[in-house]
This record gives sequence, C-alpha cells and structure tokens, in this order.
Amino acid sequence: MSEIVLKSREEIEAMRHACRLAAQTLEEAAKMVKPGENTLAINDFVHEYTIKHHAIPAPLHYCGYPKSCCISINDVICHGIPSKNAVLRDGDIVNIDITSILDGWHGDVSATFYVGTPSPEAVNLVETTRRCLEIGIAEVRPEARLGDIGAAIQTFAEGRGFSVVRDYVGHGVGRKFHEEPQVAHYGKRHKGLRLLEGMTFTIEPMINAGDWRMRILDDNWTSVTLDHKWSAQFEHTLAVTENGCEILTAFSGPLANSVTPEHFKF
Ligand code: MF3
Ligand code: CO
Ligand code: CO
Repeated sequence: MSEIVLKSREEIEAMRHACRLAAQTLEEAAKMVKPGENTLAINDFVHEYTIKHHAIPAPLHYCGYPKSCCISINDVICHGIPSKNAVLRDGDIVNIDITSILDGWHGDVSATFYVGTPSPEAVNLVETTRRCLEIGIAEVRPEARLGDIGAAIQTFAEGRGFSVVRDYVGHGVGRKFHEEPQVAHYGKRHKGLRLLEGMTFTIEPMINAGDWRMRILDDNWTSVTLDHKWSAQFEHTLAVTENGCEILTAFSGPLANSVTPEHFKF
C-alpha cells in the first residue's frame, strides 16, 4: 500500500495550475453539449485543447484506456468511451470527466450536463447529485473524518430516494492520477481516516435513480446501471487547508454560476 502524500504550499500552487486547466477545458467542452453532437468530437476537442495548453490528457492509455476523457450518457455510470456512434439526443444527461497533467501534476474534474430540455426526473437526479458534491465538500477540514464526507452524501442522496454507487470512489490525486486515500461517497460519521492539511483528493459522487449495482460492458470500461435507470456525477479536486478546503478545480468561466435551475426546489 502506498502512503498518503501531503503536499506543500508550493506543490499545491503547482496543482492549482493543472486543476485550473482541467476546469477550463471542461468549461469549453461543455459548449459542445447539444443534440446531434457525438462524444468523439467532444473527446477530440478535449485532446487538442489539452495539448495546446502544454498538458497531457491523463486518461489516454491509462491502464489501457483508449481516449482522452470519459463521456458518460444516461445509464452509463462512468468511464464511457467517446465514440462517433454515441450521439447526444434531446433530453439526455451527459457527464464529461477531464483529467489534465500539467508539469507533472494532475487535475481531475467532471460535471453532468443537460442535452436540450431535461425531464423533471432528470433534473431531480442531476441537481441532487450536484448538491451531493457540495455537501461532501462542506465536510472537508483538518480533523474531519473521511466517513463524515461519505455519510453526508449518502444521507442526502438516499433521503431523496436515490442510491450511491459503491464500486467507484474519490481518490487522492497529485503526481499520480489515483493515490491514497480512497474517498467513499457512503459511510459512517466519525469513522475513517482523519483529514490533514495538505491532503489533495477528489470527491466525485455517482448517484443512481434506481439501484446502485452496475455491470461493465464488453469494452472492459463502460460502467452501466444494472437496472438501466440513469446515473449522474460531479467531481472536484480539493486541497485540505488550515480552515477547510480549497476547490482546486473551481470554475471561473461559463460554469462559474452553473447552479440549480431556478424553478427547481429541493
Ligand atoms: N477521471 C476518472 C476519475 O475521476 C478516472 C478515469 S480512468 C480512465 O477518477 F482511464 F477511464 F480515464
Ligand atoms: Co477522479
Ligand atoms: Co475524473
């Protein structure tokens, strides 16, 4: 087992740059989310944008993964492989997950978008998942426990009739794409690892409209819900600070105010 790597202020400053680029890339890619667009075109944009900014798309060739980002539609939980045949349709929901490597540091961020006009059920799922990430982030400070994050997310999601995916978790991130610790989106308050200033990790809840169980398609990557009900996800990379945390992948452009639609009430 590898250890948890605490980052210095200088290292967090370096991560800020990688994370900022990942967030900017996602903001630009999000502009392509429209009915009729295929996910390979979005992948190719992400690839070119990343290279143009002197960075490397971390997913490409990671454990044999064939593309430069993950794009997951509707009942795909995560790790959807971009494809010309995967065409966005009005009413779909789509997660774009981007990880950039800049100067040796990783930034990992994702969000779920509406394609055209969403159904009320889709809005309920996506907005609940967006709030799950916010609720998880609100728990992060030195001396809090990993279980506090998972418990807060699980309580909220299950209270709204949704389920929390068990097979994938958030993760430490830094010089490596996936480091210790594992950050489950379910768990028990006051349990688990105690957080320390200088830890950097993702929170990336995957929330399902139905059951949390999944299966992996024959491409060995695409994770889909067993019951074919839809799944949403949001992800940020965070650093634990003296008083709380810093969202290293926070949006500063078009997604900075991407919030719950006005008419939606929790
Ligand atoms: N970006 C994903 C995460 O949030 C991991 C994707 S692994 C890949 O951890 F190989 F599919 F890219
Ligand atoms: Co991640
Ligand atoms: Co990711």
